[in-house]
Amino acid sequence: MNDFRHLQELSNYYLSKDIPENLSDIIQKELGLNIKANYGDFVLRNCLLVAPGQMTTSFQQIQMIKKSGFAGCVLKSVIAEDSTGRCSMIKFRKKPTYVKTVYDSQDIEGIFPIIHWDGGLDIRNLDDYIKFADSAVKLISDNFLIAASILGHLPSMDENFIEEEWIYTTQKLCNLGYKVFEVDFCPFLKEEDQLMNKKTILRWYEYVPLIMRKACKNIQIFPKIMNLDYGMDFQIKMIEASIVGGADGVIIGNRIYRKEYGCAHGGRSLRERNLQQIKIIKDKHSEIHISGTGGIYTGRHIMDYIKSGAENIQVLSYLMGKVKKPFIKKGNRFQQVFYQLMFDIEDGFLACLLKQRRYYENS
Ligand SMILES: Cc1cc2nc3c(=O)[nH]c(=O)nc-3n(C[C@H](O)[C@H](O)[C@H](O)COP(=O)(O)O)c2cc1C
Repeated sequence: MNDFRHLQELSNYYLSKDIPENLSDIIQKELGLNIKANYGDFVLRNCLLVAPGQMTTSFQQIQMIKKSGFAGCVLKSVIAEDSTGRCSMIKFRKKPTYVKTVYDSQDIEGIFPIIHWDGGLDIRNLDDYIKFADSAVKLISDNFLIAASILGHLPSMDENFIEEEWIYTTQKLCNLGYKVFEVDFCPFLKEEDQLMNKKTILRWYEYVPLIMRKACKNIQIFPKIMNLDYGMDFQIKMIEASIVGGADGVIIGNRIYRKEYGCAHGGRSLRERNLQQIKIIKDKHSEIHISGTGGIYTGRHIMDYIKSGAENIQVLSYLMGKVKKPFIKKGNRFQQVFYQLMFDIEDGFLACLLKQRRYYENS
């Protein structure tokens, strides 16, 4: 049977059925496509992850993410504390006063939502957060990754790092069973004018992996690259500083803080900027592991990230924002978005992989 007709049948089938845990085996057998991916050393059942944020704050959400077909998720970032409860970054433990959906001007149908909000990292103290992380860790399995995410003390040039915050929190999460750590250099840092100079920032990217490694030797560390206004060369320098510090890879990249909105922005401009960064860094350092995040709403967008050199992708706004056109799959939002990204017959990831295969066969 023609590959695209075969995909159409699979798409019709999973429109009303749950996605099975062994979807990658089925796709390999039925379409001859390998959809397995990696996050560092971890083998993923596919390349779709849920990014850290408001959709990864509870056990129930993580359970739904796993059931819907995603290969994993990253927990909402926790603000580090030391053993006495000292928390230098507490101001980022901030409840939002508003959350709204906006759209790029080209997105006339309102199907690619972008979140604007003024919240921060997880609002729980470390004890309460650890209870949540302890419940979630039980959902990690051979083919489902849950990564931790953390932000600790970030000093100015004339201060030392408060290492105990990074070490104590990393150790707590590591002892629960978390082995993959992201570092959230949150876009709201951009409001900290006195800290945001190039030397200071490069020092953070270089030293944070070194400090976290003191907490646990056998963890993988992935700093999330900030999108700043210092030009592409500086973007690449942040990534290179992470490598010097011993990071296993990076996430490219966090949303762009925009003074005019008073918050961070994503969508198409973020995606285009990230794709460019990934290509440049992969040309220079082909071995580096990259997780791509930002402005992903179709299989084509996923394909663009993978072709640029990302080994997996992370989605948030598409799961959280208002989409004006109804999804064709019934179920919760995780199921709808996973189905759309993977199975859409025009623009899903599988359709893109088939088109790519046909292109190579004919060329
Ligand atoms: C409401 C909201 C909360 C977020 N919280 C976090 C967070 O706690 N830690 C983090 O590393 N990134 C956080 N992010 C960034 C997302 O994880 C993601 O990388 C970014 O939004 C780009 O993906 P998207 O375009 O699919 O939203 C947040 C983003 C939003 C919109």
